[in-house]
Amino acid sequence: MYALQVKDLTKVYSSRIRAVDSISFNVESGEIFGLLGPNGAGKTTTIKMISTISRPTSGSILVFGVDAEKHPDKVRELIGYIPQSVSVDGDLTGYENLLIFSKLSYVSKKERDARIIFALEYMGLKERANELVKHYSGGMMRRLEIAQALVNRPKLLILDEPTIGLDPASKTKMWDYLKKMNREFGTTILLTTHDMAEADLLCHRIAIMNAGKIAAIGSPQELKMSVGVEMIKLCLDSSAIEKLVIPDELGKIIGYENSSVIISVENAEKKIPSIVEYLLKRGIKIESISFNKPTLNDVFLKYARVAFEEGESYSQARMTRRVFARRSR
Ligand SMILES: Nc1ncnc2c1ncn2[C@@H]1O[C@H](COP(=O)(O)OP(=O)(O)O)[C@@H](O)[C@H]1O
Ligand SMILES: [Mg+2]
Repeated sequence: MYALQVKDLTKVYSSRIRAVDSISFNVESGEIFGLLGPNGAGKTTTIKMISTISRPTSGSILVFGVDAEKHPDKVRELIGYIPQSVSVDGDLTGYENLLIFSKLSYVSKKERDARIIFALEYMGLKERANELVKHYSGGMMRRLEIAQALVNRPKLLILDEPTIGLDPASKTKMWDYLKKMNREFGTTILLTTHDMAEADLLCHRIAIMNAGKIAAIGSPQELKMSVGVEMIKLCLDSSAIEKLVIPDELGKIIGYENSSVIISVENAEKKIPSIVEYLLKRGIKIESISFNKPTLNDVFLKYARVAFEEGESYSQARMTRRVFARRSR
């Protein structure tokens, strides 16, 4: 079953900007799916339409088979949406934030408390539940926003730039929480990111977005393989290079460079030990060894034909979060 089916989705703002230009993609139930693209690509506009916050100019959106245009309130019951900007109140405690949210989302009085405590515990915030949110770190605030979405038990969790402005340790922690939620509850996750490492490590599949269009869709591995092969460069004694034969299962010699031989392989990290063993057994001395793997950046360059640069509004978004945290202290 598809969690999400998006077809020919288009958004034209009044200023005639085609923010989203006839995009189509499906997200399988249980998947972590990422929209990856630079600033201005149309990611936020896309997920605002899916979250029923903004109406499409044309095209269709089905969330677990429910038409978002015809039944927006039914769709809202199925999803949790976490915007890019801070969406919790610094002058309330973590608990109070969740209490208000659960009332707003009609969680029954009977279930409310248990759900709030579960969500706080799940996101590692139980000990700090009664502290004012303005004393939380950026990472904790972001986790509280997810806890908030959890109160509603969404089948599809939608996050706009979940780790923007977080330090590397909080980022990693957030990835672990999202993976855990996906694994343990089978929650389908749709997120946007401009962070290639995030897309690569977290998402089962990604759609590369640029200028309102989807340039490519696939798993990070598939996309990387589609741009080029992995290569190992071995620097050997010149007499050894001339006679060198490599069995097919280890790789294929594709070129020579000074005193090096270049071998194309399928999975460089895995093949290196066998190649080293093969050479050592034959008494061939290795001067140096290096390898080269395509990255999502290479993928982006190939499909979107522009370099991937961090736009100004990302640094702005980060600033907003920092200023918010500072002001609230
Ligand atoms: N409310 C709006 N009115 C007019 N233009 C907008 C509005 N929101 C976004 N845009 C424009 O739509 C394009 C896509 O923006 P957005 O969806 O925010 O991209 P992303 O989230 O990928 O950075 C940009 O050119 C942006 O300036
Ligand atoms: Mg955005």
